[in-house]
Amino acid sequence: MSDRTFTPLNQIPYEQIVQLVEKFDVRGPRYTSYPTAPVWSNEFPAAPYLEGLEALPDKGRPIAVYLHLPYCQKRCLYCGCNSFISNDREKIAGHAGYIAQEIRRAGNIFKGQVEHGWLHLGGGTPTHNAPDELGRLIDTVLEEIPGAVGAERSVEVDPRVTSDAHLKSLADRGFRRISIGLQDLDPAVQKAVQREFSYDELKSFIDRCHSHGFTGVNVDLIYGLPLQTSDTWKHTLEQIAQLRPDRLAVFGYAHLPAKIKHQRAIKEIDLPGPKQRLSMLLTAFHHFTDSGYVSIGMDHFAVPEDKLAMARNEGTLWRNFMGYTSIRGLEMVGFGASAISELDALFAQNLPLPQQYEEKIGQGGWTTFRGHKLTEDDIQRKALINELMCNLRIRMPEGATLDKAVDLHVAMQKLEAFEEDGLIVPADEGWDITPLGQLFVRNLAMPFDQYLPDQQNVTFSRTV
Ligand SMILES: C[S@@+](CC[C@H](N)C(=O)[O-])C[C@H]1O[C@@H](n2cnc3c(N)ncnc32)[C@H](O)[C@@H]1O
Ligand code: SF4
Repeated sequence: MSDRTFTPLNQIPYEQIVQLVEKFDVRGPRYTSYPTAPVWSNEFPAAPYLEGLEALPDKGRPIAVYLHLPYCQKRCLYCGCNSFISNDREKIAGHAGYIAQEIRRAGNIFKGQVEHGWLHLGGGTPTHNAPDELGRLIDTVLEEIPGAVGAERSVEVDPRVTSDAHLKSLADRGFRRISIGLQDLDPAVQKAVQREFSYDELKSFIDRCHSHGFTGVNVDLIYGLPLQTSDTWKHTLEQIAQLRPDRLAVFGYAHLPAKIKHQRAIKEIDLPGPKQRLSMLLTAFHHFTDSGYVSIGMDHFAVPEDKLAMARNEGTLWRNFMGYTSIRGLEMVGFGASAISELDALFAQNLPLPQQYEEKIGQGGWTTFRGHKLTEDDIQRKALINELMCNLRIRMPEGATLDKAVDLHVAMQKLEAFEEDGLIVPADEGWDITPLGQLFVRNLAMPFDQYLPDQQNVTFSRTV
């Protein structure tokens, strides 16, 4: 899809954007899933999940596989991930053994009939495991769920603990995409969040990734961190653009100290306010698009020759819990504590605490504790929201039944207020989202979320 007919974001006066952010400053879901996780039941049995796994061999389609490795060396104060700090080598290795057991159990169901089209390792820090340990775990996946032709393999790393031996172990097993957690390059900001890594270290790490054969390098940044100013942020962006990673993720800092205890060590007074956050997001947007990157969804950027950028231009982008993808509609099976599986009409999540997870796996069971079976209504809203978030089109989903179509039309009418502000424009059978509207995709998705009105007691992060 093309932005040609729309006013580019950098031609819209900053004050106008600020006014809109003030107008639409609400808290809301990120819509990495629909229905969102707070809607799922916390007493979800493993049986429907197992049925979903059992159905996979007959489908003849590759799946996405996610492995969650929960341990890290040191706590980063901003961290909102399901991660645990340990440097007890035995404990970390032992935990990987439980994940291998879970993978083998799924392999017994798949009987060599299910292949993966995408394998992603996340966490925590997968490379906090020793290189050979990590290699053995990946080999278990490759034996039980072999790679389909052209399968993609990607990993998230904390570069501070990732050695050449790790990079070699991963590259030898076909990993070509690597996502580097950086967040910010300013020394004061890094100190305030206890995550220190210099420009030179980053540059040499990216060089090492390339020399090991990684062809897709992503860097994660966060705006809204303590002590960030527009000047420090600009400097970080300039330095990052010089290194020309293939992809960039620019997340807004989700500060939820009531839920995440270690974030309480971050002083509220040091946090940039909503206006500064917006200005940082816009600066990143301008900086990277002016440097030749294509914007993907709301917070990702890719070089034009990257698959994601091509999928964005062709309107075929998709997204799941692992992030944006150019491969649409892969069912996903997650292994490890807190891992989420997304099967045809079902979300299922594993127990989040490593010890609970080990106990259940050790007893020969499955660790599903939370999940949701999608209704026909959920499926249609999910398709609409996905298209909205990825391809910036608001359309009636294919096959919408008459009564659902009526409901969705009612929700669509609520969008008229957004048209007045230039966030969307009418298009054939729906709306197209403008570059300005791209900043507000979460707000635009909210009218289609039928559960949201009943979620007044859930604390979401700010939409912009
Ligand atoms: C879970 S971490 C895993 C990668 C690895 N452990 C690392 O730190 O580099 C993945 C990314 O989530 C993002 N993230 C973590 N906590 C966040 C928060 N509170 N708000 C926004 N983004 C966050 C960071 O950009 C981080 O690089
Ligand atoms: S940001 Fe990454 S390394 Fe830091 S605590 Fe979170 S998961 Fe661990």
